[in-house]
Amino acid sequence: MRIFLIGFMGSGKSHWGKIWAPSMGLSFFDLDEIIEKKLGKKIADIFENQGEAFFRKTEAETLRSMTLQENCLIACGGGAACFEGNMEWMKEHGLTVYLSATPKQLFDNIMSDEIKRPLINNINAAEILYFVEQKLKERQSFYLEAAKTLLVSELTNHSLLYLLETDN
Ligand code: S3P
Repeated sequence: MRIFLIGFMGSGKSHWGKIWAPSMGLSFFDLDEIIEKKLGKKIADIFENQGEAFFRKTEAETLRSMTLQENCLIACGGGAACFEGNMEWMKEHGLTVYLSATPKQLFDNIMSDEIKRPLINNINAAEILYFVEQKLKERQSFYLEAAKTLLVSELTNHSLLYLLETDN
């Protein structure tokens, strides 16, 4: 069992992943955290110093190294599903679960958490909602390829377990 949690920034992949994984006997991994440890740099610094293309290449390589892990849940960065054939690869190597949220929900979560997000760092607050709407439109077709979708507004501590038990 290997579960890939995907979805836009602010959909709660890491938050829910950390709750769901232990309760299902799975190890939890955060792909961005693994990249940060591997390179000894924050994601924002990687974007700034080496650029997005380098980050995407590292992200794809790091994702593929997850085949070393079994019985795990991996929270992926918001763009992971949309580059380097990663979505196809994840579907071949595990169960893909999309955390789906509206632009407004994503915007509220992004604004209320402290993480530095390189894609929105240079956008002023008034324009972030518009950015989220546009970017989500661009990415939605990748996210919707996931085997399962959960609506963020309906999530509970048992949503993932319930989904796997009831929906084959
Ligand atoms: C990104 C989302 C981030 C991180 C990087 C790029 C994206 O992860 O991987 O900043 O392209 O949407 P979160 O979704 O955890 O914020």
